[in-house]
Amino acid sequence: MQAVTIRDKVLSVGEHPDPVAGVGEVLVAVRAAGLNGADMMQRMGHYPAPPGSPAEIPGLEFAGEVKECGAGSERFAVGDRVMGIVGGGGQAELVAVHERQLMPVPEALDWAQAGGVPEVFLTAHDALFTQAQLRCGERLLVHGGAGGVGTAAIQLGRLVGAEVFATVRDESLRAGVSDLGATVLDPNDFADHGPFDVVLELVGAVNLPANIQSLDVGGRIVVIGVGAGTKSEINLLALMAKRARIHGSMLRARPLEEKAIASRRVEQEVLPAMQTGALKVPIYETFALSDAVAAYDKFAAGGKLGKIVLIMTDGD
Ligand SMILES: NC(=O)c1ccc[n+]([C@@H]2O[C@H](COP(=O)([O-])OP(=O)(O)OC[C@H]3O[C@@H](n4cnc5c(N)ncnc54)[C@H](OP(=O)(O)O)[C@@H]3O)[C@@H](O)[C@H]2O)c1
Repeated sequence: MQAVTIRDKVLSVGEHPDPVAGVGEVLVAVRAAGLNGADMMQRMGHYPAPPGSPAEIPGLEFAGEVKECGAGSERFAVGDRVMGIVGGGGQAELVAVHERQLMPVPEALDWAQAGGVPEVFLTAHDALFTQAQLRCGERLLVHGGAGGVGTAAIQLGRLVGAEVFATVRDESLRAGVSDLGATVLDPNDFADHGPFDVVLELVGAVNLPANIQSLDVGGRIVVIGVGAGTKSEINLLALMAKRARIHGSMLRARPLEEKAIASRRVEQEVLPAMQTGALKVPIYETFALSDAVAAYDKFAAGGKLGKIVLIMTDGD
């Protein structure tokens, strides 16, 4: 099979042996696979695949058709449309994955949209609801609102009745983020618009002091992305006075059991709203698998609204 390949920090598309579905696994003919910040880091030689995932094939999310069912797998049949997260290996024509990491693709989604769902919607849903326990009527701030996770989180916040604010640094993307249901804020003065009950941090440590300053009593900060820095000095007294909590979370290296639980929650609480159209999957641009270098360069350049997705030619 053909797959995106990262070897010694060089990205190419190359030939690899076809994966085989093991016990409880399903072999999926991939039709579309989203790009994520983790792929950019892997290209730079950081954030290697966790044990058990292909070391040289990036890709944390994919959508495609079931091609074969391994021994003992029973959730899906050959031909079913499925999507899911993996620790790596998603940007390939074939992927073998445990059936419990898979979700059915809602009929309303085309392949490009489905390929851009799993990583960002699982991440956003887990961060907002499992970690921060966001509730109806609360005020949510999403930093980095125009990206894949940000556009998912804004919509999920609105879906449960939260009042949603989002920082967006690129002025040309602010109207699009506003259309998703957020009040758009300038990253430099967001603290003037608090207090917030939940802050989803997708940008990094640079925001942390002002995040705490703008938090309401009982507020929660969830740190998911640290592209703009990992270290910050914080005032613990302010944290205490607000009885606040700071969570951190990573999805990629979690064990199968936890990925399965997060996937079941998204299946139950998110996918029905995609079928009705209440939740959208904003696709900024698609690229053929053979144009993976251009797709990565586009992602790394920033300034996009939503997802960049690789499309496999036929998935067989
Ligand atoms: N912990 C986890 O399990 C997990 C899972 C998924 C993603 N992540 C991380 O979460 C972050 C967001 O993911 P994503 O898929 O949404 O990425 P994305 O699509 O690249 O979106 C990131 C957004 O943040 C903005 N941004 C980046 N640096 C900024 C800065 N210094 N100041 C203001 N805005 C900035 C970007 O704006 P521009 O377009 O202007 O650059 C972009 O809109 C990434 O760091 C990713 O690696 C973590």
